[in-house]
Amino acid sequence: MIAAIVMILFLGTVSLVNGNGAYTCRDMNDNPVDWFIFYKYPRMFDERDFINSGKEFIYMDANNISWQYPKILMNDTNHAVYYTLKQYYDNKDNTQDNFYILYNDEFPNSTIWSPISGHQKGVSLFNAGGGYWLIHSIPKFPSNSSYEFPSNAVYYGQMGICISFPYETLGKIATQLFYTYPFVYTKNVPQRMISDFGSLQNIADGIHKTTSPYTRMQSFISAGGKQFMHFAKSGLFGKDLYYDFVAPTLATGLLVQSWMHKSNGSYANNLNSTCRPPDPYNVYDAHKIQTPFLNFTSYDDHSKYAIAHVESGLPYPYLCIGDINRQITQTKRGGGTMCFLDGSVFPVFSQLIETFYPCKSFKYNHYDIKN
Ligand SMILES: *[C@@H]1O[C@H](CO)[C@@H](O)[C@H](O)[C@H]1NC(C)=O
Ligand SMILES: *[C@@H]1O[C@H](CO)[C@@H](O)[C@H](O)[C@H]1NC(C)=O
Ligand SMILES: *[C@@H]1O[C@H](CO)[C@@H](O)[C@H](O)[C@H]1NC(C)=O
Ligand SMILES: *[C@@H]1O[C@H](CO)[C@@H](O)[C@H](O)[C@H]1NC(C)=O
Ligand SMILES: *[C@@H]1O[C@H](CO)[C@@H](O)[C@H](O)[C@H]1NC(C)=O
Ligand SMILES: *[C@@H]1O[C@H](CO)[C@@H](O)[C@H](O)[C@H]1NC(C)=O
Ligand SMILES: *[C@@H]1O[C@H](CO)[C@@H](O)[C@H](O)[C@H]1NC(C)=O
Repeated sequence: MIAAIVMILFLGTVSLVNGNGAYTCRDMNDNPVDWFIFYKYPRMFDERDFINSGKEFIYMDANNISWQYPKILMNDTNHAVYYTLKQYYDNKDNTQDNFYILYNDEFPNSTIWSPISGHQKGVSLFNAGGGYWLIHSIPKFPSNSSYEFPSNAVYYGQMGICISFPYETLGKIATQLFYTYPFVYTKNVPQRMISDFGSLQNIADGIHKTTSPYTRMQSFISAGGKQFMHFAKSGLFGKDLYYDFVAPTLATGLLVQSWMHKSNGSYANNLNSTCRPPDPYNVYDAHKIQTPFLNFTSYDDHSKYAIAHVESGLPYPYLCIGDINRQITQTKRGGGTMCFLDGSVFPVFSQLIETFYPCKSFKYNHYDIKN
């Protein structure tokens, strides 16, 4: 009986805080949820048809912290990412009451891309009752007209995190985006919301930060009361988000999964695992990725996440999910990552990176696929 009451309160948190009619992240059953994480599998040669499609994903949310394997494809219309975005598709024409911003360094259904703006992908949707911020790694996604999963996004692993927020948080999201300079393909900023949050004016005007400081860590409290820390950097920072900002701020080393393919014909653009004594916090690039239902290598993975790692003892259970890579070109781009401290989610994430590249022994190449 007590357990049942506690369960009802727990599941009801988001709707209680955000109120009826508010936008929220939606779970696999289209119910409001405080946060969820999805990890799309890369396309792999496998006897399982679903995995061959490159559209399968695993999923966890605030109400069940373990990887669920729903056997649903990203192009289907009965899952958390779809239900969350559907609120935008259904309500985008109401420009009086809704704030929204859709950004991606590669525009959906288009050949337009930006080599200079933030290396960022995401969607934020709010009305006066609340909203969400979805941060992800999927190229050319999502379309601003109707839901579809782009064919170019099937090959590699992709990750995203959606967090539900109270309306009061919207100004803070706008400030982080002012630092990172996203490449925006769709936005709507109601005048009345600009009166509530001056920082929205920058989004309406499409301007970004050009003076120091070039980094900003902002604490966020989700609609359900969970603390997150968003790290934003402007391209003018000129350094690595993970080694030069996140690790020293959180006071921990990190294992980072990010995209490190050839660029301009060579691997020389990759930052590689970084240890620079006497700096105390090392940052290592992931090599082998292990999930409960499929193993692959970092070469197969376009997602961008980080897990706390220390040379001895136990790390503080920090993890981060974002949209920028560890590459030299991306030191000069805006970008960010959403971090949080969580003793339940961390153990699930820390199993993902099975091996990582030590410092100064980098040999990242496509042959890794077979390793
Ligand atoms: C999703 O993609 C798979 C193949 O990758 C296809 O068989 C299926 O029909 C698609 N589903 C929808 C709803 O388009
Ligand atoms: C949580 O998800 C796991 C994996 O899918 C499942 O086995 C378990 O029954 C779920 N727990 C609840 C409370 O829904
Ligand atoms: C993509 O572009 C084509 C050609 O302009 C158009 O027919 C199609 O509806 C677009 N798809 C989406 C989801 O916007
Ligand atoms: C929709 O997105 C495309 C890029 O994919 C962009 O060119 C177009 O202006 C957007 N339309 C609206 C109404 O924002
Ligand atoms: C790409 O590589 C060529 C030759 O390897 C070099 O001359 C050029 O400067 C590089 N371009 C960039 C943007 O790094
Ligand atoms: C990363 O490793 C590659 C391949 O060994 C090398 O070419 C490149 O110079 C390294 N990058 C840095 C920043 O040292
Ligand atoms: C993934 O690799 C681990 C360790 O090498 C192994 O124990 C596990 O069975 C593999 N999982 C799958 C699904 O192949």
